[in-house]
Amino acid sequence: MTEHQTVYTHGHRDSVLRSHRSRTAANSAAYLLAEVRPGAAVLDVGCGPGTITADLAELVGPAGRVVAMDTSEQVLEQAAAYVAGRGIDNVEFVVADVHALPGPSGEFDVVHAHQVLQHVGDPVAALREMRRVCAPGGLVAARDADYAAMTWYPELPELESWLSLYRQAARANGGEPDAGRRLLAWARAAGFTEVRASSSSWTYATAGERLWWGESWADRVVGSGMATTALEHGLADEPELARIADGWRRWSMDPDGWFGVLHGEILARG
Ligand SMILES: C[S@@+](CC[C@H](N)C(=O)[O-])C[C@H]1O[C@@H](n2cnc3c(N)ncnc32)[C@H](O)[C@@H]1O
Repeated sequence: MTEHQTVYTHGHRDSVLRSHRSRTAANSAAYLLAEVRPGAAVLDVGCGPGTITADLAELVGPAGRVVAMDTSEQVLEQAAAYVAGRGIDNVEFVVADVHALPGPSGEFDVVHAHQVLQHVGDPVAALREMRRVCAPGGLVAARDADYAAMTWYPELPELESWLSLYRQAARANGGEPDAGRRLLAWARAAGFTEVRASSSSWTYATAGERLWWGESWADRVVGSGMATTALEHGLADEPELARIADGWRRWSMDPDGWFGVLHGEILARG
């Protein structure tokens, strides 16, 4: 274990990866896209299953390159298979921790991390490392959800329990679930002199969206890293997890159901 190491709260079970695989550069990195130019060298830290990575690789084109990094060898294998399946061949996959990135300083034009800094032990040190490997004039981009700012209807008590439990589990694992609002402060603390902060959201409200989001969380509450953490730390017992999962299923079936996820974003230079 390094001094910064945390337990990754979600884990890499299929219920989690199913949710992460829906991500694209358009729905998850719109704030960054205008800055990703053909020929650029991009580092995607905490790339997970690689769907955003693949879109970034297409944007930089054959003259550019993407290095996809993650601490999980297992998820990198899945990312490599996904990228190859799309016929993309300008991505290299490397197992690494964002707190200690391999390679020389100034190697990348863009260093990107989507939904990663909320899970790491020292986000300021992580941003300092991302800054180190960024070329002079290059850009560090990060986007993270802010759990305390998530909101929904109907106001089911089980979803209140879910939010409270998730935030406790994430903190028990050494992360910060309300990361979105902190990105600007973390970037300033990491020494960036020019930081553009913005926000954006995901909404789940159609029958298909509700089913997908609600079922994903119903599964994750009883069978992912979150469940393990909750049980190991005595934050909840199995009947409580089952009650929360039932609440998620009830929400997903309700035609009035609406869920909003707020994300903080930063584009940092200097
Ligand atoms: C929520 S997933 C996001 C995956 C991807 N960026 C996406 O949005 O689809 C977070 C990823 O960060 C990775 N991760 C967690 N801690 C890390 C660390 N210290 N260094 C590098 N990657 C890390 C996890 O293994 C996981 O794949």
